[in-house]
Formats: sequence, C-alpha cells, structure tokens
Amino acid sequence: MDLKELLISADNRVKDFHEMQELGIHCNTGEFIPAGVHYPPITRYPDIEYDEMFKGYTMPSDEYLDVYVHFPFCSKQCIFCHYPSMYKNDDAEKDRYIDALEKNFDIYMRKLGIDKIKLRVALIGGGTPTDLTTKQLERFLKIFTDRCDMSKVRQFNYDVSPHTLIGDIGHERLKIMRDYGVDRLTIGIQSMDDKVLKIMNRPHNVKEALESVKNTMDMGFQTNIEFIYGHPGQTVESWYEELKQVVKIDVHEYQFYRLKVEAYGDQQGIIKKWEEMHPDGYPTPDDTIRMKQMVFDYLKEFGIEENLRRVFTRKKSYISLYAFNQCCQQLDQIGIGLTAFSSLRDRFVLNMQSFDDYYARIEKGMLPFNRGYVRNSDAQQRWAIILPLKNYFIRKNRYKQVAGIDIEQTKFYPLIQQLKNYDLLTEDDKIIRLTDKGIIFSDEIVGLFYDTKFIPKERKYFNEGIFNPYKLNG
Ligand SMILES: C[S@@+](CC[C@H](N)C(=O)[O-])C[C@H]1O[C@@H](n2cnc3c(N)ncnc32)[C@H](O)[C@@H]1O
Ligand code: SF4
Repeated sequence: MDLKELLISADNRVKDFHEMQELGIHCNTGEFIPAGVHYPPITRYPDIEYDEMFKGYTMPSDEYLDVYVHFPFCSKQCIFCHYPSMYKNDDAEKDRYIDALEKNFDIYMRKLGIDKIKLRVALIGGGTPTDLTTKQLERFLKIFTDRCDMSKVRQFNYDVSPHTLIGDIGHERLKIMRDYGVDRLTIGIQSMDDKVLKIMNRPHNVKEALESVKNTMDMGFQTNIEFIYGHPGQTVESWYEELKQVVKIDVHEYQFYRLKVEAYGDQQGIIKKWEEMHPDGYPTPDDTIRMKQMVFDYLKEFGIEENLRRVFTRKKSYISLYAFNQCCQQLDQIGIGLTAFSSLRDRFVLNMQSFDDYYARIEKGMLPFNRGYVRNSDAQQRWAIILPLKNYFIRKNRYKQVAGIDIEQTKFYPLIQQLKNYDLLTEDDKIIRLTDKGIIFSDEIVGLFYDTKFIPKERKYFNEGIFNPYKLNG
C-alpha cells in the first residue's frame, strides 16, 4: 500500500476519534491517557501495613508462579521514559543490588513457605538488565536459576536495549543468557530514523540496532522488537518510511507503543517538559491516530497481525506469555527488585521506590514493599474486565473464575451492551472483545469501567456525551 491509500483508512479513523471525543469516551484535549495495565492505577496504591499485605493469601493450588525481576540501571536517560532508573555506570552499586536481589528472593520464598519457586514464565526487565558486566550477568542468572525450578518453564524473557548486544561483549552476554535458558528477547529499537533516535537520546543508532537484532536471531532467540510512534521528530510521512524499514526486519514479533507523555507510574519522564518547550515539535493527536491505523493496514499486507494488544506477529504463538498471563489469564506473579510489583489473585503489592529504602528493608530480612491494594469484589469485577478486554478479550468462563460472578450478572453488563450498539465491542456466548474500531480506542474504552475515584482526568476533560465516564459511574 502506498501512503495515499493508507491515508484513506487513516483519515476514517480520525473521524472515529472525533466521534469518540463527542461521545465522552476520549478526552477532549486528544491526549493519550493509558489504561488497562493495572487496576486500580499504580499511582493510587496507598501505603500498606507490612502484616496486612499477605493476610489471607494462599498459594495457587498448582503452586506455579510467574516471576519478574527489575534492574533499575541504564547508561543514558531516554526522553520518553518514565521508568525509574540510575544513569551512572557504577559497578559497585550493581554488585550491591545483585546481592540484595539474592536476599529478596530468599525472603520472598520464606514468606510463601517454599524453598524453590515453581517457575511458569520469567521476565527480567528494567531499566536495562543487560547493562551489566558479563560476570554480573552470569552471577545474577546463577542466583535466579538456583532458586527457581526451571523444569517446566514455558518462556524465559529478557527486555534489553540494543547497545548491550553488540560487539564482543554483546556476543558474550547473548551466549551467557542462552546458556542459562533465556529463550526470548525484547529489544527496544524505538525508531528506524536516526534523527528521531537522537531526539529520544537513545544509546544506539539504527545500524547498531539492526546489528543487535541479527546477533539475537543468529543465537536462536525468539525476538521481539519495539517501536514508539507519536514521538517528537516524527510525521505521518516519516512514519510511513519507518514502517517500510520495519517490515524488512525478519523477527518473530513487532511491538508498537503510542507515546505516553504523562507518567502512568510514579515518576514523570523528561518528555512532558520537552513538549512544553517545543510546542510544534511533535505530531498532533489526529496524526498520531493516523500513525496507529497505518501500523495495522501496512503490516497486514505482510501477513503480520495484532495478536495481543500492540503486539504484531506472523504466528499467534509468538506472543509474550508473561504479558498474556498477567493481563489475560490474570495468574499470580511475584516481583523482585526495586519498584517491582507482585500481582497475587486479589491483591497488588508494590516494592519500594528508593534504593535506600529497598536496601534497608532487605537488610532487616523483610519484603521490600511499602504500597499495595487488596481489591474488594467491586474492584475485582472491574479488574477482570479491564485487563483482558484491553489486551486480548474477555473469556466468560475465565471471568467467572477470577471475579466470582457471571459477567451477565454484573452491573457492567448494560455498559457492554451500549458499547456494542456503537460498534466498539462484540459478544458471543463465550467471549466479549473489541471490534476493529474499538481496538484503536482500547485504553479509553476500558477506562469507562474505572470507578470514578480512579479516573485519571477530571470531568472537564470529557464531553458530556452518553459515555462520559463520570456519568456512567453515577
Ligand atoms: C521497560 S521499557 C525498556 C526497554 C529497554 N530498556 C530499552 O530501552 O530498550 C519497554 C518499552 O516500553 C516502551 N516505552 C517506554 N516508555 C514509553 C513511553 N513513554 N511511551 C510509549 N512507550 C514507551 C518502549 O518501546 C520500551 O522499549
Ligand atoms: S527506555 Fe530503556 S534505556 Fe531508555 S531510560 Fe528507559 S529503561 Fe533506560
């Protein structure tokens, strides 16, 4: 498809976007308000007493867990990034952190009454968890695999940045990960345009990113590459040129994120200030919607389709099981490290946000969390709609297991029917899912299922249409 053809479909989506604003679904400023990653949103988790958090929690009957480990270290700060990280290359600090992770594992296992974690899926993320010396990387992987029963692990993921996978040291890191059973890497390429990578302040250029992809594929990893659209420096035309380059890269998965300017976690990245200082330097909301629709239409021609929200693959089986288990199956997972979270059936546990607090807790032999939330049945019913609807689809039988009630019996079912009337949802006897139109506005649609007290923007940001989220919530 050439750009002219792509723009016909993209312009139609812009009309839908304006309809969404009129209806009160999308905020009237057009800015992107992400929803549906966690519910309630992370920033709203209150401080919680140490003894309260695990009260009444029992392990899943099969005892399997997913595990996330966080490494808050990066070589540079990308302007779009809201993840807390330390930006100095301090090997002693990283050694200290790995020591703490080791203790964090042991304290968690004691708390759960187990001496090994029956691992289902692992994700090591950050920050940049490969921004370590090879010795540190190997030491961490030994700590990890000594504490997890790896015999039934279904996927062992690492989220990485390209500059850590090139040159001799990059090869060594890849080999170490492979030797310890890591089988899937997500590489943040972010853009196929060197000018945009410069604005982003990325620690690599396009050539180095492609080299990292080749090294990863050559080593036999399942490979996922990530991009951002709607970023300063991009236009609809330049995005089309990027997409043409993207489809030439032969990997298993392609992930496309719409730029989030407002922080969705506790820390605000540089991007907000950047945009305030350069009011004309970034794409308009209309153009960002065009870019989003272009991804769907252009990649489809190459047999690459969305199989989990934002994730485009040639085969359905190539998706991240970690994301699938978290958002669609809603299975139990534990988080190790600074700012890592655990999602345990009806509760969410958030680890400390400062290094000092994290180390202090670990030294006391205590789990390093300070905030959390135990959902009541209303919040649990919302959570069981919001995450799967946004990211995949609601399976009615799974809904009943997670929420404890048939979806048809909930107070949310009339809203589901109303959204069907606007061609945003579709339903059969087993599932409820977003339509092609609904997928483009997935964050905003699932935002309608938030309790009023958790809607991230005030009422004045939404038109008083029939889906104004404040009206729906009474
Ligand atoms: C946890 S981040 C880190 C990945 C890795 N450290 C890297 O830099 O390549 C995972 C992905 O989220 C996406 N991301 C991060 N911040 C974003 C933002 N503000 N808006 C949209 N996507 C973002 C990026 O594509 C990034 O690769
Ligand atoms: S995008 Fe990745 S490399 Fe950049 S600051 Fe965030 S975590 Fe670090």
